[in-house]
Amino acid sequence: MADSITITDNRTGESIEVPIIDGGVDATAWAKFLPGTWFHDPSFGATSAAASAITELDGENGILRYRGYPIEQLAESSSYLEVAYLLIHGELPSPEQFEDWRYEITHHTFIHENVRKRFMEGFHHDAHPMGILVSTIAALSTFYPNAKDLSPEVVNKQVIRLIAKMPTLAAGAYRHSVGMPFVYPDNSLDFAANFLSMMWKTAEPRYDANPALARALDVLFILHADHEQNCSTTAMRTVGSSHADPYIATAAATAALYGPRHGGANEAVIRMLTAIGSIDQVPAYIEQVKAGEERLQGFGHRVYKNYDPRARIIKQTSEEVFAVTGKNPLLDIALKLEEVALSDSYFIDRKLYPNVDFYSGLIYQAMGFPMDMFTVLFAIPRTAGWLAHYIELLAQDSRIYRPRQLYVGHPVRDYVPIERR
Ligand code: CMC
Repeated sequence: MADSITITDNRTGESIEVPIIDGGVDATAWAKFLPGTWFHDPSFGATSAAASAITELDGENGILRYRGYPIEQLAESSSYLEVAYLLIHGELPSPEQFEDWRYEITHHTFIHENVRKRFMEGFHHDAHPMGILVSTIAALSTFYPNAKDLSPEVVNKQVIRLIAKMPTLAAGAYRHSVGMPFVYPDNSLDFAANFLSMMWKTAEPRYDANPALARALDVLFILHADHEQNCSTTAMRTVGSSHADPYIATAAATAALYGPRHGGANEAVIRMLTAIGSIDQVPAYIEQVKAGEERLQGFGHRVYKNYDPRARIIKQTSEEVFAVTGKNPLLDIALKLEEVALSDSYFIDRKLYPNVDFYSGLIYQAMGFPMDMFTVLFAIPRTAGWLAHYIELLAQDSRIYRPRQLYVGHPVRDYVPIERR
């Protein structure tokens, strides 16, 4: 049997045969065959928008790999900085390459004083840190005007700056929102420990994070570093396809991450668990979800129709964190919710399983992060993934993203002057 599909226009009886390549069917063949008739796929559920060699996601089987490496092995043995290198450059670094990369990232963590003083401090005291983050990432574009040069060497410079400065901006946004003085990066610390220092340091000369907590955060960063063509990555690629500079494109991706259906879901999970309040309220909540009155936050995924492999790792990491911080009291409610949902036909039939956000918020909360910071904690590592896609897109010399639409509005009609309406 040929590895192809045949499309027949039943109005004319004409057919074309289109090969299936890498699991996809080239839509340009369709467009040439039937000009003006479009695939209608508003949320891209059946559309491949890119050929990508970065992340492999098999949602049916719960598989996630970065550049071919299983997420379980990376979470077990790698570090976020190494994973960021892997995503950006396509291969794991040699010891020398890693040392250069670590040095470069570590030495680009500082931000221009005006970004901090004039921008961050200009926000209202109760500004959401994601709002501050989106705006300051975009503002960086004005501090590095040469970022408009999209040659690989110049883009690489911005990639290092962005990965390095995200924790500084993130921690700065938090400190501003609680009225604490900004903490400068400490170049003697590694990536996660430095971020924790910028978050929590008060009067001590050096903040040494608990190593178990710094490692747990690093694992969470690995798990969140990329996830192929999700909403924010699609925003990154869409904006990148217009050749906007890397800061502007990253700001757009960060904005897309902000929503509760995407990076904001871990915050929604904690609000949900808090509202449920106790284990004995779980069955009643599940009934509300089944009646369509509520959503089970942290459950379900457009692509995973199986247990999200990241959720499995996070559940394990949570035990290591709780051993240090004490158990998050909401954990028992979460475990009960998972148990009830996974044995209920509503969730089984729809293949709804816990996703990455179901347990991550519990860890962040136990580590002392306020809920406003949860999506920010997602944005820090996802920056590496977004930029890997941006680089891939530029290298592919992609056309500008420009979907078509089915016009369903009024047919032509004549303008009526206001006094006659
Ligand atoms: N609770 C209850 N029912 C659900 C849920 C849920 N969390 N998710 C999906 N369903 C139902 C949905 O009502 C629909 O039922 P029916 O066929 O009877 O109409 C069916 O399952 C299919 O759902 P869908 O809305 O077509 O799924 P989608 O692919 O459009 O949405 C989702 C995916 C992640 C937005 C959705 O599952 C959701 O809102 N989950 C809760 C929010 C969440 O946890 N988001 C984090 C996603 S993972 C991290 C990230 O990517 O940022």
